[in-house]
Amino acid sequence: MLNRGTKSKAWNGPKRCPVMVPVMFLVSVLVALLMFFRKNDENPIPVYGLPNQKWNGFESLVQFNPEREFRNGTDLIWQIPDLPKAVLFLAHGCSGRAVNFWDRSSKCPECVGLPEERLLVLHALARKFAVLTISSAGRCWTFGKERLIVEDIIRWWVKRQNLEKLPLVALGASSGGYFVSALANDLKFSSIALMIAEGMFDQMDIIEDYPPTLFVHMPKDVHRQQKITEFMEVLKNKGIDVAEIECMELPLSTTFLSDRIPGLDQTISARLFNLFKEKGFIDENGYMKRDGRMTHWKQALQESKTTFLEKGLAHPVQEELNLAFAYHEMTSLQSEQIFKWFESYMT
Ligand SMILES: *[C@@H]1O[C@H](CO)[C@@H](O)[C@H](O)[C@H]1NC(C)=O
Repeated sequence: MLNRGTKSKAWNGPKRCPVMVPVMFLVSVLVALLMFFRKNDENPIPVYGLPNQKWNGFESLVQFNPEREFRNGTDLIWQIPDLPKAVLFLAHGCSGRAVNFWDRSSKCPECVGLPEERLLVLHALARKFAVLTISSAGRCWTFGKERLIVEDIIRWWVKRQNLEKLPLVALGASSGGYFVSALANDLKFSSIALMIAEGMFDQMDIIEDYPPTLFVHMPKDVHRQQKITEFMEVLKNKGIDVAEIECMELPLSTTFLSDRIPGLDQTISARLFNLFKEKGFIDENGYMKRDGRMTHWKQALQESKTTFLEKGLAHPVQEELNLAFAYHEMTSLQSEQIFKWFESYMT
């Protein structure tokens, strides 16, 4: 909210009292600084300029170097940093796979490295969390036998890596969020984060020492927000710590996509932005008018004279458009807050 058209009135102080000039200057610098930090504190939307919000922001800090193994009919991909301080289990949403969390490499040629998933992993590794990802057996997670198998895999893996002494946390998005909320009734997590998911709290007997639960959600999904409010109350009444992070919509810009997607350069990013503007997919401020899945941007791209987007980049672009609309998508933008929250329950 900008105050447009407000004019400052003439102030005749300095003439009478010259010493006031440096004092007033210092005061205004202090006020500006205070406002800056307050704003940063309150604003859940991180500034894009921050290095760790860019796809390559972790280059000097941490590299992908995952291990992979097949077990119980599914695949496990993980990475353990030097001197890990905790273990993070990540659960994808429907249609997700473990390979989405890791960049393609000689060790993992099938890895896909979707923009939000890969940044979540990089944030985790940079903060010395060992990261374990597992693929669901079907399209989405199921809550019968699969739940027991995955619990078994996590226990077995933690033991084999000699990480039993470390705190165990989990983050699940959408279907993975429901899944993690159920796992937390059986496995001992120090805390959990449920992303764009309200959890299964109306379908289970919540154990007494259920872990602190963080809801990372997109309030534009009003129905889900109502359920989250309801379930937060349920948990609170049982003496379980709860918190929430609201993820709001973001404006696109000419560099939004190139900032967040590896292999998508600034020229392509700007061309896509202009195409979206031209087609009326975004409003005058750059906000998506509809969810990325409901926007016929791929069709518009095909109709444009030159199809300039590599095939493999369609999925990442789709994800970022969904993220910008902020209705239902994996997000790494709040990683800093999420990991600080995990860490607050690790002592
Ligand atoms: C998972 O696989 C291991 C090793 O093959 C096996 O010992 C274990 O029984 C399996 N667990 C389940 C639940 O099927």
